[in-house]
Amino acid sequence: MPLVPMRQILDEAAKGGYGVPAFNVNNMEQIQAIMAGAEEAQSPVIIQASRGALQYSQLDYLRHLMLAAVELHPDIPVAMHLDHGNSPKTCKQAIDLGFTSVMMDGSLKEDGKTIADYDYNVKVTREVVEMAHAHGVTVEGELGALGGIEDGHGAGLSVDDTDHLTNPDEAGDFVAETGVDALAVAIGTSHGAYKSLRRDPKTGETLPPALAMDRIHEIHKRMPDCHMVMHGSSSVPKELVDIINQYGGKMEHTYGVSVEQIQEGIRHGVRKVNVDTDNRLAMTAAIRKVLSENPKEFDPRKYLGPARDAMQEVVRLRLQAFGAAGHAKDYKPITLEEMKAYYAKAAV
Ligand code: G3H
Ligand code: 13P
Ligand code: ZN
Repeated sequence: MPLVPMRQILDEAAKGGYGVPAFNVNNMEQIQAIMAGAEEAQSPVIIQASRGALQYSQLDYLRHLMLAAVELHPDIPVAMHLDHGNSPKTCKQAIDLGFTSVMMDGSLKEDGKTIADYDYNVKVTREVVEMAHAHGVTVEGELGALGGIEDGHGAGLSVDDTDHLTNPDEAGDFVAETGVDALAVAIGTSHGAYKSLRRDPKTGETLPPALAMDRIHEIHKRMPDCHMVMHGSSSVPKELVDIINQYGGKMEHTYGVSVEQIQEGIRHGVRKVNVDTDNRLAMTAAIRKVLSENPKEFDPRKYLGPARDAMQEVVRLRLQAFGAAGHAKDYKPITLEEMKAYYAKAAV
């Protein structure tokens, strides 16, 4: 199957009442793990690359790996998405590379750190929608800002910054004014392994992050057809953190977003669920284990292979938990040309 527009995956997911994980990639093993997991689960999947990933892979390596992925897995619907595009220019670069979907994250300014105001967000997102839809490419926008800060991206908000959560009163206007296909919501999740600043006042122990699930309920109630996106949705499994620490790592006790919370989101309109950290943890745990148990080992295949297998397992589990498994066969691929005609008709 050729790459499909992400919009087709979102629409199918809404029809089927499931969510589709969007997994981040930077290299060959990660793409192989995603495709093998999707093949096992017979599931559609979204593969996404951040700006950092594009830089790391010198753009073209990633593009060709993606093309190999769809060639080798003709029955799996795959959308190729730009994660956290910081400007219309970056989104254009991804469209030119053949991405079938882009995120214009206008919740932050171009530096990826400073919180932007509503008008700026609408302006840049609208500009990207006009450009992307003219190519049949899907657009995700974001209203409200995520917490935490990871690798330079994010506003570094604390859990008490509820001002930056998505305001359901603004969501309808934002979707109407920009024309986005998908809306990323800020409900208190953050990127990375450390998602919670909440501590038990008595013991000082980390508590799970507090999420404003009610905002998702409210947006879904007002806009039942709006496809929502949950960022920062890794569950940070304790068993993976434990393996990392058992083999020389020094990660702190932490919590992610529970699979149950994500499933609740999916019941209320979440169709795309971003997962990166869990795969990073799985790969790191496997690599640490191999190298610690075999200190004489120096063949990269001997640790990258198990890392790929460990990531495949996370991928399969998330595809099953979010209900996407078994749905690959529902798809009759839509081309970007067809999507272009659809958007042109919708605009008149
Ligand atoms: O947006 C966050 C993703 O986990 C990508 O992270 O910017 O380090 O590639 P990255
Ligand atoms: P995690 O860090 O929770 O995996 O989130 C990834 C993400 O939201 C990418 O956009
Ligand atoms: Zn994100």
